[in-house]
Amino acid sequence: MPQKQLTAPDILAAKGARKLAVLTAYDYPTGLLADAAGADVILVGDSLGNVCLGLPDTLGVTMADMLHHTKATSRAVKSALLVGDMPFLSYQTGIETAVANAGRFLQEAGARAVKLEGGAEFIPHIKAMLAAGIPVMGHLGLTPQQIARLGGFKAQGKTARAARKLVADAKALAEAGCFALVLEAVPAEVAARITREIDIPTIGIGAGPDCDGQVLVFHDIVGLCPGLRPSFVKQYVDLWTPAREALSAYCAEVRGGRFPAEAQTRRMAADELAEFQAASEYGDA
Ligand code: KIV
Repeated sequence: MPQKQLTAPDILAAKGARKLAVLTAYDYPTGLLADAAGADVILVGDSLGNVCLGLPDTLGVTMADMLHHTKATSRAVKSALLVGDMPFLSYQTGIETAVANAGRFLQEAGARAVKLEGGAEFIPHIKAMLAAGIPVMGHLGLTPQQIARLGGFKAQGKTARAARKLVADAKALAEAGCFALVLEAVPAEVAARITREIDIPTIGIGAGPDCDGQVLVFHDIVGLCPGLRPSFVKQYVDLWTPAREALSAYCAEVRGGRFPAEAQTRRMAADELAEFQAASEYGDA
């Protein structure tokens, strides 16, 4: 029997019933792996810029990039809810643009929901998307599309005043109809309070253990991202070292004439070979 793919209402209904495991993915193989691992939600995050496109941040990620990668991921995902991340300036410039761009994730790329960064200032955009039939996931706390204004990748909600603003924004997003809310790099106490006070699932990343679910970036979990990792990331396996060793071994074998060996070589059948060798160089074809 074909497995039913999770929907935004399924994710909403999980609040208080079970913890949600969310993973990012960016293409067909990472989508296959994340889906096979049993993720509830697979997010094609605009972290695409950092982990796949070699960009220093997410500001250079475009709608074209996101649609291209969401399409590829959607061909792999059969069980999880697939969420497309709205990139910088795809929704901030106006409500009509926001709905049109959000709609493209569903119409062209196979996503069944979108995520956007920001608080109460985007309620009109979110309501318009919902009216068009597009489920929306919110994202508060460290919102990487704001790094130019924030002055870098900094934890948010550390003062009582900033924490109160986060709680107010979370309530506004929940009341507007978001089906889930990502909380990134906020103190655990603030995330716990938001989780208690809103009736949609909170999905934490660097937001402590009390959220309704957690999200991590695919490349961080499997150790495919060299360089500094934020302290809240847990790397479950190091794929970088064995992958680099395998690729170096291949290069050395090619240079040393050891690849391809007999096992990777296709040879002619003996009778065809005899006929081939008997024919003169310019003989009949
Ligand atoms: O872009 C992304 O991958 C994200 C997650 C870290 C939540 O926004």
